[in-house]
Amino acid sequence: MSKPKVLLTRQWPAEAETRAKELFDVHLNEDDHKMSVEELQEAMKNYDVVCPTVSDFQINAEILNVEGRKCKALCNFGVGFNNIDTDAAKAAGVVVTNTPGVLTDCTADIAMTLLLMVARRAGEGERLVRSKEWDGWCPTHMLATKVTGKKLGFIGFGRIAQAVAQKAHFGFGMQLSFYDPYPPSDEVIEKFSATQLDSIEEVLRNADFVTLHVPGGGSNTNLMNTERFGMMKKSAFLINTARGDVVDEPALVKALKDGVIAGAGMDVFAKEPNVTEDLLSMENVVIFPHLGSATTETRVAMGMCSLDNAQAFFDGKEPPNRVA
Ligand code: DGY
Repeated sequence: MSKPKVLLTRQWPAEAETRAKELFDVHLNEDDHKMSVEELQEAMKNYDVVCPTVSDFQINAEILNVEGRKCKALCNFGVGFNNIDTDAAKAAGVVVTNTPGVLTDCTADIAMTLLLMVARRAGEGERLVRSKEWDGWCPTHMLATKVTGKKLGFIGFGRIAQAVAQKAHFGFGMQLSFYDPYPPSDEVIEKFSATQLDSIEEVLRNADFVTLHVPGGGSNTNLMNTERFGMMKKSAFLINTARGDVVDEPALVKALKDGVIAGAGMDVFAKEPNVTEDLLSMENVVIFPHLGSATTETRVAMGMCSLDNAQAFFDGKEPPNRVA
């Protein structure tokens, strides 16, 4: 019996591509280019399953409704799936899956890295040393913000947020508060001695650091806007490892320039890979190129998870991580 046809839209770590080749008649993106809308439309006609990623053009009705579509499932390589229009997928009868769980700790590590770096001016300090402008230790040089014991507020308190909570509370003695319309169990809340608040605004007013953990798109677009930056403490920092569109970037730039907030640590941006000149030039901003899940262990695990979903789909079973 011939194997099902599967397309990986971008290059995957070798171990995951090897398993894909064992399981399926797989097409790899050898030169790792970003596929055009036309290529994705063509893929819909030629493959049973397509495995897209966050950096592809959004798989929307224009792509899904192409005549002669063969593709019946999109097994996303990533936990966030705002690169897929799930309403259009549902309407077209196309199954959508994601890769939760396997990138939780690594993404939380990056959130903590950003938090520590922006609070302690680590990027700025490193740039200073590399520029050979550093002229030695003195008691007033590069004074920054202490992290240990400070208040950390969460917008969204799901899996990745809880992994940040684990590190921040038990590693750095931080006091935690959160807002989430779907809060975790009392047991989880008690474990972190976290305070559940009734609104985003309450979190913003209380926190020394605010970390975002909500999906992108829909009503979360521009969730952090001028009004909400105005509710944060002047001494507070924003950390974003969620999705770029959750933050109104021009509003963030203005808040940083006007001293409305103290700084920001960003792993994601509204129009990746473009980062505005303003953010690039600010010393109180730490910027990473969407590194949350970027460890070999995690990226291999994401590939395996995506393939498990595809395999379950072909076996006629409910894929373990179906989201639409
Ligand atoms: C994720 O898995 O959501 C990462 O941000 C990459 O897509």
